[in-house]
Amino acid sequence: MHKEFDLDKIDLSKEPPKEEPDRQYYYMARCRQRIREFQQKSGRVPKACVTTFGCQMNARDSEKLVGILRLVGYEMTEDEDADFVIFNTCTVRDNANQRVYGRLGELKGYQRKNPDMKIALCGCMVQESSAVEKIRGSYPFVNLLFGTHNIYKFAELLCTVFDQSDMVVDIWEDTNSIVENLPVERKYSFKSGINIMFGCNNFCSYCIVPYVRGRERSREPREILREIEALVADGVVEIMLLGQNVNSYGKNLEHPITFAQLLREVEQIEGLRRIRFMTSHPKDLSDELIQVMKESKKICRHLHLPVQAGSTRILNAMNRRYTKEQYLELAAKIRREIPDIALTTDIIVGFPGETDDDVEETIDVINQVRYDNAFTFIYSRRTGTPAAGMEQVPREQVKRNFDKVLRTVQTVAREQVARYRGRVMDALVEEINENDGSLVTGRLSNNTLVHFPGDASLIGQIVPVCLEECHGFYYMGHRV
Ligand code: SAH
Ligand code: SF4
Ligand code: F3S
Repeated sequence: MHKEFDLDKIDLSKEPPKEEPDRQYYYMARCRQRIREFQQKSGRVPKACVTTFGCQMNARDSEKLVGILRLVGYEMTEDEDADFVIFNTCTVRDNANQRVYGRLGELKGYQRKNPDMKIALCGCMVQESSAVEKIRGSYPFVNLLFGTHNIYKFAELLCTVFDQSDMVVDIWEDTNSIVENLPVERKYSFKSGINIMFGCNNFCSYCIVPYVRGRERSREPREILREIEALVADGVVEIMLLGQNVNSYGKNLEHPITFAQLLREVEQIEGLRRIRFMTSHPKDLSDELIQVMKESKKICRHLHLPVQAGSTRILNAMNRRYTKEQYLELAAKIRREIPDIALTTDIIVGFPGETDDDVEETIDVINQVRYDNAFTFIYSRRTGTPAAGMEQVPREQVKRNFDKVLRTVQTVAREQVARYRGRVMDALVEEINENDGSLVTGRLSNNTLVHFPGDASLIGQIVPVCLEECHGFYYMGHRV
């Protein structure tokens, strides 16, 4: 997919090209030259480490960073005591930021031992001016800061880091452009995420994502299809289409198409076995999408449908643009049309103004929808969002309600996941079990994990497995 072999043919005596992605390949060639010089001087291949915080979008962005780092000649490592370390950050909740600051402190120690070590920070946190100020002030040893809109310029920025000793900072407010055809290296050989859109226009009142990821932009369907075809040719059997709100995909394209239409086209790709997507906003989930899912042989039996809260008053204050009743009706319709589907969700506890009665409504939704899993978060105040200025809920009340919601989620999810006991279902084998080397771990279409006897030769294969024992959120089983 990328022009790996062309790097050495690029004439570096010329000026860098103006067009993308050619300009970036030019800079990759220059970085490669620098890496070779390092190798000659030190007698070893330099090591790079990419650490990812946050969501699937960040995970995909990190694969793009790894693609470039490897192409220019770095050896990748998971050890942060490396020659180049980059943190791809998240800022959706404050604890994500705190983790980054803690880890940066550790990196300082490594850099003291290895003065040539370069440290970079990118991703959502870097789009916040307060975070950038803090890094400039308290972490001046960081060599490079760039945001979410210019990640495609990573090779160019890396060159600047080699050439200048001051902190390199390049952060854009927003962008309209999408640069295609840059290198990317997948974490898994058999599955991959694919961005279908970037940014978000929803401005839920608690959420910082629209401010750090910019306005919604969809990729052209032909670019998406071409990327998936290339992935399938390279051994990928499962893809996950990624966007903050996939249900509004395609609305801003020159020739608008719906997400359901895109799915129909993806379904046609021969050799592709499974299709997943994240995330669906309930307000935009169409009947057309339910129909396409129902008829599809490849779309997985799993829908992540974040509810956030059960009380209509709170949903309104959150700017979610649906009521409790509308959400429940939608969930019931999906269950009616696709009975074997697993529904999962995100829940926030402690949004400003939330009372114990409001939390009871959230619990009522969990009991009615019967989620297979739910990610429950304590509300985190994000500077610059409308909710930050609203009256906050006392900490003890939040803690008490959070525990209550979590208990309900766990009870319901246990029962839901257990309903498949004794069934034979297809699992895509993902890895050797972390705790027991004689087992492999597979993922069912409904996203539940199953562990069963097997070896590395099964990785990447879809095999039928009998689900014997349910242990809360996962199964133990055997191949049939
Ligand atoms: N675009 C996705 C969500 C992206 S953020 C969607 O709309 O569903 C992932 C989850 O983080 C959200 O669903 C929400 O539950 C949670 N979240 C976002 N902002 C938060 C905040 N300020 N405090 C706590 N949780 C938050
Ligand atoms: Fe945040 Fe809402 Fe956009 Fe999701 S839809 S990213 S929760 S603003
Ligand atoms: Fe975090 Fe950015 Fe994703 S804030 S959740 S990494 S879009």
